[in-house]
Amino acid sequence: MSKQKTIYYCQECGAEYAKWQGKCTSCNQWNKIIEELVIKEKKKDTWENHTQNSQKTIKVSDVSFQDTPRIVTRDEELNRVLGGGIVSGSVVLVAGEPGIGKSTLFLQACLEMTDVKCMYISGEESLQQIKIRADRIGIQNENCYLLTSTDTQVIFNEIKKVNPEIIIIDSIQTLESPFIESTPGSVSQVRECAAEIIRFAKATHTPVFIIGHITKDGSIAGPKVLEHIVDTVLHFEGDRHYSYRILRTTKNRFGNSNELGIYEMNEKGLRKITNPSEILITQKEDDLSGIAIASTIEGARPLLIETQALVSQAVYGTPQRTVSGFDLRRLQLLLAVLEKRGGFHFGVKDVFINIAGGIRVEDPALDLAIIASLLSSYEDNPISQKYCFVGEVGLSGEIRAVNRLEQRILEADKLGFEKIFISKFNHKAIGLKANIEMISLSKIEELYQILF
Ligand code: TYD
Ligand code: MG
Repeated sequence: MSKQKTIYYCQECGAEYAKWQGKCTSCNQWNKIIEELVIKEKKKDTWENHTQNSQKTIKVSDVSFQDTPRIVTRDEELNRVLGGGIVSGSVVLVAGEPGIGKSTLFLQACLEMTDVKCMYISGEESLQQIKIRADRIGIQNENCYLLTSTDTQVIFNEIKKVNPEIIIIDSIQTLESPFIESTPGSVSQVRECAAEIIRFAKATHTPVFIIGHITKDGSIAGPKVLEHIVDTVLHFEGDRHYSYRILRTTKNRFGNSNELGIYEMNEKGLRKITNPSEILITQKEDDLSGIAIASTIEGARPLLIETQALVSQAVYGTPQRTVSGFDLRRLQLLLAVLEKRGGFHFGVKDVFINIAGGIRVEDPALDLAIIASLLSSYEDNPISQKYCFVGEVGLSGEIRAVNRLEQRILEADKLGFEKIFISKFNHKAIGLKANIEMISLSKIEELYQILF
């Protein structure tokens, strides 16, 4: 007997309602609630039937624990964002905009692992299309299996036959479970398919990567509603105008959750960038004003990045503030601090900030470099390319201590910087052995006096 039921879902957050309403009370979005018809049949041949009654309650002290075995891929960047390799039985959601390179990334990762049996399941492309992409990447691998299907039961049957060690599902929006009557990509389908995959992964200890599309405004249902049920969430992002792509961890049950992997898309797939600092700092012949280099940390890795500022006379009544790769409100705050504490008249200037390479970092230690580039452009006086800046700026213009300063200094030292400007309140770094000269500051006025 099948039971028919209508459910109203919020496409933004996945909240369920018994009747339609204009505003989702869970995420406060308007016009996101849609009707979905759900027909539930009694499940006959699903994974849970084979694994029923295997659960029983035990004491925490009785749990035997070995360090989770991990499959280490050939892709260093992928290993890092996963916290050191793929954990068996883990489910990883990879979200990104269409065309950013998700399929390429995972097909390439499968092809590179010649000693691990991988299965790449695509509901989007034909075998020929995948083959063309594989040829483009240009790696031969006898251990990589392809399947094009969208029916979850067909997929599980094939998986049973092949018995792979790693599974990639491209993409969750194309999958369809025969147990519910709703179109692929709808909230209920996406949820049901993901739940089936998760049960499968946990029962067989096979790691599964689920690829999901998102658009800028998050209008396609899917990845958002899955984030809390998977083990790891990776975001693959990048600026269309640059070839760099960033794989960012936003949730990880098996490791650090703010790791970052950097790739470059070229004609033969994705190239791993193992030394990002070198590409993020543009090489220039002579010093230009408005540029300062910051030593930041994303996850476990220090990154030196170039911040650029342009300060010019405002032509309209309201001066413009435009940012790319930096938080606009943070910029407004820093400008207010400069105006009030330093006496610089940014109120009559247009200000533009850009982080080179199209990269977005959320490290408060970037503040000092932004201030330095703003002052440099304001004075039209270049800062030496051999200087680098680390520090958070507080509301009273004080330069505050940042975490893991040693690592930041050592990275700058390794790349041949001569001076690093740090906060006076970072005591730990004083005993550090490095060739780089450390200049400690307590206020932004001191920065101005030293630089100009
Ligand atoms: P794709 O992996 O299909 O993106 P997604 O799965 O996220 O939708 O990648 C699409 C883009 O990548 C496409 O515009 C072409 C480009 N590309 C390269 O530049 N080099 C390559 O070797 C490959 C395979 C793709
Ligand atoms: Mg794709």
